[in-house]
Amino acid sequence: MKMSIEIIGTGRAVPPRKVSNDELAAQIDTTDEWIRSHTGIGNRHIADESVACSDLAAEAAINAMAMAAGYSGDDPAEIKRAAAEVAPTIDMIILATATADYYGTPSTACIVQDKIGAKNAAAMDITAGCTGFVYGLETAAGLLCVSPNRKRAIVIGAELLSKMMNWDDRSTCVLFGDGAGAVVVEKIGDCCQGKTGILQSLLFADGSGADSLVMKRGGTRAPYKKGETVDTPICVEMNGQEVYNFAVGAISDTLKALKEAGNFNFEDVAWIVPHQANARIVKAARMRLRIPEEKFYMNIEEYANTSSATIPIALDEMNRKGQLKKGDLVLTVGFGGGLTYGGNIIIW
Ligand code: ACO
Repeated sequence: MKMSIEIIGTGRAVPPRKVSNDELAAQIDTTDEWIRSHTGIGNRHIADESVACSDLAAEAAINAMAMAAGYSGDDPAEIKRAAAEVAPTIDMIILATATADYYGTPSTACIVQDKIGAKNAAAMDITAGCTGFVYGLETAAGLLCVSPNRKRAIVIGAELLSKMMNWDDRSTCVLFGDGAGAVVVEKIGDCCQGKTGILQSLLFADGSGADSLVMKRGGTRAPYKKGETVDTPICVEMNGQEVYNFAVGAISDTLKALKEAGNFNFEDVAWIVPHQANARIVKAARMRLRIPEEKFYMNIEEYANTSSATIPIALDEMNRKGQLKKGDLVLTVGFGGGLTYGGNIIIW
């Protein structure tokens, strides 16, 4: 029997507080016009002070598990009940984040494991910047494939970038937002590769660009020192122009490589779900490849750049709106800190 790794549930969690460009412009030296025209961003959602990465990650995972149990409604009690049915059947939690609850240990995935009651699941975090979910999906597929004992995994992308911003750096802080997305994946069959689900993934890295998107302080390269006073939290520092140029190439190169690896034409593709750091980056890449705009699912206007959460949030939105049909060829494509980039080929 052929085996496939299918997505059987999707979920997302986005903080209710929506912050418009105008609201930001009242606090920092920027305008709605500048942000929209340079990035396509109109809003971002920002978590409350008390919320950490694992809180959003767990909520997204619970929503995905409820769907995996057959419940796609919005009654909180039903979501909880349905998710609790699936929780003990999860063998693996893979959480992609650049904004963990804690540095180093424990992993945020372990905290999520406890919060969602997935008592039989192994748990680990992945650090691959905004490509984290793409890496996570391939990691889950690989880990399910190699072990006869593992059947189900949850892959989560979750970020609280608002807590890792220098709010005095207007060229960076306007770009990011908070959120989480999750999918439940299940192994169907027991050997070889099937024709549906996650068919294959391409993962790339270029560590020579590590400095162009970095959180410099707090690690072993630049630990805090006794007596030191710091004005900002550990924050994202970015060379916008360098990342922009890398990103356009990363999206177009990855899409071309996926097309060759999967032996299809772009006309065959139902949806491309890109990481969304800047709508201009996606536009430049799609024009290079001459792919029609309507094949790209975009939601940057609402959420800004939610890093590893962007792609799973988009998948959940599309899924719940009924935009993903059985048999659709769906490509994900991500790029981000590391530098990393890559994509997944999925038959929905
Ligand atoms: N509001 C108003 N003006 C601003 C703002 C702002 N928020 N930010 C910068 N400016 C000003 C600059 O000071 C500069 O002014 P000057 O000409 O007087 O010096 C001017 O706007 C132009 O600045 P540029 O940096 O040239 O603007 P650019 O068009 O390159 O856009 C941007 C900057 C949006 C950051 C762009 O380079 C970009 O999107 N880069 C990639 C970002 C990205 O992809 N990041 C994440 C990738 S991976 C991940 O998702 C973690």
